[in-house]
Amino acid sequence: MSHDLFLAAKAAMQKAHAPYSRFPVGAALRTEDGRIFAGANIEVASFPEGWCAETTALAHYVMGGGGAIAEIAVIAERMPGVTPCGGCRQRLAEFADPDTKLHLCDQNGVVATVTMGEMLPFGFAGDTLK
Ligand code: THU
Repeated sequence: MSHDLFLAAKAAMQKAHAPYSRFPVGAALRTEDGRIFAGANIEVASFPEGWCAETTALAHYVMGGGGAIAEIAVIAERMPGVTPCGGCRQRLAEFADPDTKLHLCDQNGVVATVTMGEMLPFGFAGDTLK
């Protein structure tokens, strides 16, 4: 994995707005053409209205023009090797491929690498909805 991607995820985590859970998360994704988009979780006093780091990163990615995703990194301050929640697996799968690499990180770097297909087996795909 490019070290830049890890650093982007970690820097994003440091911008988390997580005053309620105190569980800062950062996510970053790199497109095939080398652009990096990152995001942090953003919590809201009405708890269900907050959202995850992966979702913020995807919003930046879509607004930045989208494109093929090469790899994704996720990091949480208090959970080495944090994995995306179920909803974020579905959101990431919307734009990534089953063979897209997902790097699970701790404060020093990658602790495990899996594919999106491993992270979301038998996922619901929107192909037939188009
Ligand atoms: N969180 C993420 O940002 N990404 C995940 O994949 C797991 C959970 C956030 C949501 C909430 O702000 C905090 O972590 C605790 O659940």
